[in-house]
Amino acid sequence: MSQTLLRGKNLITFQDWTKQEINMVLDLAKDLKMRFAIDEPHRLLQDKTLFMMFFEQSTRTRNSMEAGMTQLGGHAHDLTPDKMQLSHGESAKDTAMVLSRMGHGIACRNCFYGIGNTYLNELAANSAIPVMSLQDDLYHPMQVIADLMTIQEYFGKDLKDIKIAISWAYATSHAKPLSVPLSQILMFPRYGMDVTVAAPKEFPLLGSLVKTAEQNARENGGKLRFTDDMDEGFRDADIVIPKNWGGFANYTFEEYNAHEDECRKEMKANLEKHRDWICDERRMGLAKRNVKYMHALPADRGNEVTPGVIDSPAAIIYDEAENRLHTAKAVMALTMGGRP
Ligand code: CP
Repeated sequence: MSQTLLRGKNLITFQDWTKQEINMVLDLAKDLKMRFAIDEPHRLLQDKTLFMMFFEQSTRTRNSMEAGMTQLGGHAHDLTPDKMQLSHGESAKDTAMVLSRMGHGIACRNCFYGIGNTYLNELAANSAIPVMSLQDDLYHPMQVIADLMTIQEYFGKDLKDIKIAISWAYATSHAKPLSVPLSQILMFPRYGMDVTVAAPKEFPLLGSLVKTAEQNARENGGKLRFTDDMDEGFRDADIVIPKNWGGFANYTFEEYNAHEDECRKEMKANLEKHRDWICDERRMGLAKRNVKYMHALPADRGNEVTPGVIDSPAAIIYDEAENRLHTAKAVMALTMGGRP
């Protein structure tokens, strides 16, 4: 371990964290998971306050953070724009400056395409206390760290050449952000994994971050490939992660925000061409015999995945969801507490 001083560090993307720092989170999360299992108090953030600002709905992120703060001995404020003056146009700067005077951490979910990551960075630039992303348009660090913990629990710490399929899937629920697959292609090759992204050509990932992910793969002995064939993605995979994402990357941030209605219409038309992109029993049969099915949740049952797959023993989705709690606590304890 190179250094242990993470107090005050922002978490907008793990791309800004070294592998040693990420490993510290994983180690602490494992320890906190055991303490939770035996009901041993671990009040590492006693009397500390976290401000959580949710521009969108959430089940796992909201509850892992809020329950996590309680278990660490602190308190989390569950805020939404309608409860705050930002609904009257208060700036990210003023919001961050004021909250910095009152508590110990700011966490925010803002997934609006071309807006969310900029907003998070503006909060971070003006905050005297750590700012944590609860998902933006580009990154979902709290999800990917829980994914990594779960994968290590099933496959061991050395993930070199573990073959993982990150696949687009059809969904009617909503056009999901790019942040989960982007965070996964950035993170998994850093651990030597063999990543295949399968997606129809109308649903690319963001080119600039794909380039960074390819560099991560080159520098860490991982692999990153792309296909527009879902079956090919699944073939011989140890892990499959089939999930919808919107066709946002077809547009620049400016184009999308200037013509959102037209872009959404085009994305919907493209979506309907690919109803057959579902994770079903046949496709699971193309993967390795003990393949694991993962999903950040919420899943669109019957569209992204058949009930026969998501309710099968191959699915490790609830372990993955539980690990949101342990990893969130580790991030908070290290960045909001930690050694002074
Ligand atoms: N996976 C995830 O972030 O879930 P929520 O949207 O429920 O927080």
